[in-house]
Amino acid sequence: MARARRLDRSSDNPYPHGEQVEFQYEGRPMLGQAGEPLAVALLAGGVRIFGRSIKYHRPRSPFCLHGHCSGCLLRVDGLPNVRSCRTALRAGMQVERQLGWPGSGRDLFRTLDWVYGERLDHHSLLTSSGTLARMAMGFVRKMAGFGHPPTAEPGPPAPKRRMSVPAVVIGAGLAGLHAAVELGQAGHRVVVLEAEELAGGRLCDASCKLAGATGWAARRELLSRLSALPGVELRLGTPALAVYGDQAVLQVLAAGPDETLALEPQRLVVATGAYAPLPQFEDNDLPGVLGPRALDRLVCGHGVLPGEPVLIAGDAQETLELAAALVERGIALAGLVTDRPEPELPAQLRTAKVPRVAGHRILRARGGRWVQRVELAPAGRETPDLVLDCGLVAAEAPAAPAFELAHHAGCRVVFRSALGHLVQTDAEGHTSHGQVLAAGHCAGAGSAEEARLQGQRAGLACALGLKDEPGLRQRLAALKA
Ligand code: FES
Repeated sequence: MARARRLDRSSDNPYPHGEQVEFQYEGRPMLGQAGEPLAVALLAGGVRIFGRSIKYHRPRSPFCLHGHCSGCLLRVDGLPNVRSCRTALRAGMQVERQLGWPGSGRDLFRTLDWVYGERLDHHSLLTSSGTLARMAMGFVRKMAGFGHPPTAEPGPPAPKRRMSVPAVVIGAGLAGLHAAVELGQAGHRVVVLEAEELAGGRLCDASCKLAGATGWAARRELLSRLSALPGVELRLGTPALAVYGDQAVLQVLAAGPDETLALEPQRLVVATGAYAPLPQFEDNDLPGVLGPRALDRLVCGHGVLPGEPVLIAGDAQETLELAAALVERGIALAGLVTDRPEPELPAQLRTAKVPRVAGHRILRARGGRWVQRVELAPAGRETPDLVLDCGLVAAEAPAAPAFELAHHAGCRVVFRSALGHLVQTDAEGHTSHGQVLAAGHCAGAGSAEEARLQGQRAGLACALGLKDEPGLRQRLAALKA
């Protein structure tokens, strides 16, 4: 299996890339690029195990690179449980792993996997006796936990600012940015809150295509339109923490880098996107198994390839485009595994010599500290008929809509078997809450095109809620036709 390496980056790459800096990892010096996520610098430096599962003590490594899986938690500058995929690298950082005995790299408690073949269930551990159960619980608590308390003194609390604004958009992904553009063009003041340091959501993926253009080009064009609108304020690195929709005044609480914001909008557009869930196969938590979007960010965005050859599993157009993007960058593919027997392939894949396994799915991943091979089975069968060696796996799973903030605001959430829980909206993006609209993945949009359209409609409907104008009505009707 190939070692981690850095790739050349194209000039239109939207990800930040600073000068080389030194930092300390478990007492030894390492190098990375200032401003890139700490997790990316560590993967580029060959670090594979970032921590341990608090329950099973199995090794953990970044899976989502999006702040949602906890596979990348580290102790940074004395502060425990820092999401290293969300932490920009700085010179002189002190980084340590934080869980496992005698260490995260080799954790003897991993033997629990063999002792308890069916997994250790602490709810039923030694429950035949009250005394034994209390001792067992004490032991389990000691084994688990998230590192040790911080050594550094907490800084002063961030100042809080209250702001009344006509509109707030939560999420600067494809749908959120389009909603903000519509609001800005209609002459309204709008604050856009984005948890990440980079706006664009799926437009930052090399695998994203929108109306024939690459996601990166569409993102550039959209951001330049946004920056020309004086009423739009884009706040990056500012996650919305809560929405209080049952108050007399709608309230959004957000944590900026230097201040806490208490926003009071007349209207709110929720465009919070979706999460990448673990794919469904045995040992899906093995380091080296990533979500396709995480692989896209890591390899195409940050230019870091932690293992090779890469196995891609999935039929969605974005997944196939990702495989094509890797081939274009000269990366070896161990295979392209598709459920469908004849998926429509991007041109690069039709001409490249990529081993294709159609009508199959991953049954299990194999490897100790990092994925080394996958076992594949035909649809409907539980015994593998093929084993492929690989150094990295990206396997597709249906994205889970991020409905929580809308739900918190009091919007109705519904369950759809193909999509999961999502915010219920009408064709214009109105939710069951009179002041809140929703658009994009969190409201069930599948493709990038659908997310764009939903964002535009929700932005226009939101603008109409603030001020009725016939021109906006016509434009909204045209988008719904
Ligand atoms: S939370 Fe950092 S990789 Fe998932």
